[in-house]
Amino acid sequence: MKRIYFPEPFRIKSVEPLRMLTNKEREQKIAEAGYNVFRLAASDVYIDLLTDSGTGAMSSAQWAGVMLGDESYAGADCYYKVQEAAQRIFGLPYIQLVHQGRAAEKVLLPILLQGKKYAIANMHFDTTRAHVEIAGARAIDCVVPEALDTTSYYDFKGNMDCARLEEYIHKLGAENIGVVIMTITNNSAGGQPVSVANIRETAAIAHKHGIPFMIDAARYAENSYFVQQREEEFKGKSIAEIVKASFDCCDVFTMSAKKDAIVNMGGLIGCRDKAIFELIKQRTISFEGFITYGGMSGRDIEALARGLDEGIDENYLKYRIGQMQYLAARLEEGGIPFQTPVGGHAVFVDAKKLLPHIPYYEFPAQALAIELYREAGIRACDIGSYMLGNDPDTGKQLEAEFEFTRLAIPRRVYTQSHLDVIADALLNIKERAAEIKGFKIVEEPPILRHFTAKLMPL
Ligand SMILES: Cc1ncc(COP(=O)(O)O)c(C=O)c1O
Repeated sequence: MKRIYFPEPFRIKSVEPLRMLTNKEREQKIAEAGYNVFRLAASDVYIDLLTDSGTGAMSSAQWAGVMLGDESYAGADCYYKVQEAAQRIFGLPYIQLVHQGRAAEKVLLPILLQGKKYAIANMHFDTTRAHVEIAGARAIDCVVPEALDTTSYYDFKGNMDCARLEEYIHKLGAENIGVVIMTITNNSAGGQPVSVANIRETAAIAHKHGIPFMIDAARYAENSYFVQQREEEFKGKSIAEIVKASFDCCDVFTMSAKKDAIVNMGGLIGCRDKAIFELIKQRTISFEGFITYGGMSGRDIEALARGLDEGIDENYLKYRIGQMQYLAARLEEGGIPFQTPVGGHAVFVDAKKLLPHIPYYEFPAQALAIELYREAGIRACDIGSYMLGNDPDTGKQLEAEFEFTRLAIPRRVYTQSHLDVIADALLNIKERAAEIKGFKIVEEPPILRHFTAKLMPL
């Protein structure tokens, strides 16, 4: 195996004990949880790969900031610091704090979608899709076809299919489309990067038709690292320059700061237009609180102000993406199929390929997630038909483009030995893949069902 050099640009000062239950205990816990990994107690999990969102380890500088956080209701010191950092890094003049990514979506999307029928994205993340639908519109995904073939190598599998975007705009009518969204990196396609050239082209198409262009910026730093490694124009450019070039194209952005800003809670909205910003402020006050804290504690705002810069540190990003590449190399060696090349925050195991005998309506990616918990106490999650849910018009189960079991790697949390446990567990599961059975849902809410539904093994 090719050795990959990705040294941690930090050392460990504080540790958190983990426990591993017996096989029998895990079997009982997952049954009690209705075969839904979101219903497991975290203390019953050994390696938690449920999400990279809000699960990162903060630096000593961020923890020091927590003590300095100003808890004033209005005009706290940390508010000005986060404004300064976000305006400098992203280059948009108006920045609003909110408590997480979906709060940004809740505040912004109804403003853009008022009287409109559609939002078009490279791919909508599930909360983005939900907020498009709550605003009364429909969410259309328009990713490049290369993303759909998990075995082929393509530098920017997260890209928008610009030709198809043009077709959609002509077919649906530009006046009916409230926003064109670029999710960077493209989480639902496997944490796949989007090139700056594609961001520019997509923005130009949206603007030509008078449609606002939005970036879903959760992984702004990881995307920029891939751009630096893979896009000719940006080789040798700093991450800060690449972030700036990407955001130069957008009218608005939403951000879950719980990813690349390495904080446990936080979100941002960025905007160029003063009139839209006034509406954003009004809705923030209704839903999140006064504009200078936007649903956050001063201590969390202080940590966020520091995290925005830590996230774009090149040595950190090299280590971060290097972890993903190490795990991917081990899986490749063991013949485990996954979205290739590996993306920025997770390895997306192709459950459709690993468990071809389980149809989409029996949720192969969920079945694999359950098996990982049974095998080694690892908590992963389904990014497939189980997560996608039912058609809002017909109520019928939708078939997802992918059936991924996502191994999301929290930032600065797990060591290389943990990555080896994950790889070994998957190799063991592969041996008995043919015996693994699918699931059926026995209880589900109408929206974002995967968080709370209960399932039964078939
Ligand atoms: C691309 C993307 N957008 C939006 C969100 C929503 O952010 P939050 O979980 O902070 O509400 C997420 C969360 O995982 C995400 O990955």
